[in-house]
Amino acid sequence: MYRVKIFVLLLCVSLSFQCSEKKAEHSSVEKYRPGYHFTPPIGWMNDPNGMFFYKKEYHLFYQYYPDSTVWGPMHWGHAVSNDLVSWKHLPIALYPDSLGYIFSGSAVVDIENTSGFGSAENPPIVAIFTHHNMERERAGDFFSQCQSIAYSNDGGYTWNKYAHNPVLDNPGLKDFRDPKVFWFSPQKKWIMSLAVGDHINFYSSKNLKEWGLESEFGHTFGWHGGVWECPDLFPLVDMDTQKTYWVLLVSINPGAPKGGSATQYFVGNFDGKTFTALSAPSKTKWLDAGRDNYAGVTWGNIPESDGRKIFFGWMSNWKYSQVVPTEGWRSSMTIPRTLHIKQRGGEPILISQPVQEIETMREKAISVPSQEIESRMNISSCSQIDITILKEKNKDFIFSIGNNKEEKISFTFTDTSLYFDRKQSGIIDFQADFADTNALHLDRSVSTITLFLDKTSVEAFFNDGELVMTETFFPTEPFHFIEFLDTHSVKNITITPLRSPFEAKHKK
Ligand code: FRU
Repeated sequence: MYRVKIFVLLLCVSLSFQCSEKKAEHSSVEKYRPGYHFTPPIGWMNDPNGMFFYKKEYHLFYQYYPDSTVWGPMHWGHAVSNDLVSWKHLPIALYPDSLGYIFSGSAVVDIENTSGFGSAENPPIVAIFTHHNMERERAGDFFSQCQSIAYSNDGGYTWNKYAHNPVLDNPGLKDFRDPKVFWFSPQKKWIMSLAVGDHINFYSSKNLKEWGLESEFGHTFGWHGGVWECPDLFPLVDMDTQKTYWVLLVSINPGAPKGGSATQYFVGNFDGKTFTALSAPSKTKWLDAGRDNYAGVTWGNIPESDGRKIFFGWMSNWKYSQVVPTEGWRSSMTIPRTLHIKQRGGEPILISQPVQEIETMREKAISVPSQEIESRMNISSCSQIDITILKEKNKDFIFSIGNNKEEKISFTFTDTSLYFDRKQSGIIDFQADFADTNALHLDRSVSTITLFLDKTSVEAFFNDGELVMTETFFPTEPFHFIEFLDTHSVKNITITPLRSPFEAKHKK
């Protein structure tokens, strides 16, 4: 009961939170609560799970431990939104049980009622997730993870676990988790991508209850510094050539090139059985060049008339996620992004862009042409900042975002690289490598920069999303200005304060 009261109290606090510095600074619990990013009301959150769209609502589930701000017995937390930006928290959807914790997974709208859990008139929603048995893990056996299902007959609001779980038992593999399922209409079957240590297994099923192995991918492809997790396989049309590619996202932790966690992707073909990558086995492509976008996957059941592939990532890194200085809650999601394919340098690459719904948060923009740009300009700590640049050769272009306490994050563009620095960003001593510079090689020069700045994060979209970098930081006071070392390269800057969407009423 006591816990319920605290939950309700913090829920109200979180929902009424405005992106206003004054309000936030006075509460130590809320100090780092983002203005417009999704966070759990209290407690611990990691991966986004089970995302689907149904009856005008985007459902989001997430790895959740409400009793602590560090990882623990995993539940599926739940929230819904009409517009991907204002979220309404809902009761926990799935609790741990005798088979174990509820690890990551997906949910599908079973339109044809293949599972028999609903009817054609009222299709069931089926969640497919990993049960993780901690006793077995502690006992050192390799059978601690298996795949189970739960179904909902009220559009995803309440859930029943299937009586005959698991639906896919463990064949004796330590890492065997994170099922992501979609309907493969040409062959009228469900496909499950499953992370199995150092590769992905693809299974198929006609009814979501019985699964057979189709193929394996990845033993010799991509990055293998750590364990493969949270796969997602989906088709994407290249808007320029109208060619359909299949994209496979694979998160990896630990051992990503910049330390800890990161998400790689493969572009290729899928024939209902086998995924074939187009790039060379040794070549790794990364979804995000920053250190704080992990375990991200895409929404299912988006109507064809919309056609977008919408992505949400967990905006943290296992390297330090459990020690960051937020209080009462931990972690947020990225802004929702759409994924696209574009040809660059003769090969298809993944482009990420903010969803258009973000525009509903925009307040009055100030656009400043080059001759009027001052070296220091005031901003809100929740802002969209669009900068057009024409960098002079052999001259670094440097800008920072900071506060009066000399805390800042900085971006340095050389002719071939970008260095992102957070070593003076405020609290950094909670983890040894947090202050390291993130150095990126640039294949081509950057001409447009769009920054989504929130109290503790920046999501940078370069050249309209050809390159994306997501980074977190913890200043002791909100950042409130942007400063250019030399304004010469800046052709235009538009600064748009973003208001918190969390007060908007949710329409059912
Ligand atoms: C990824 C992950 C998943 C797992 C979940 C447990 O961050 O490790 O592989 O299902 O988190 O919370």
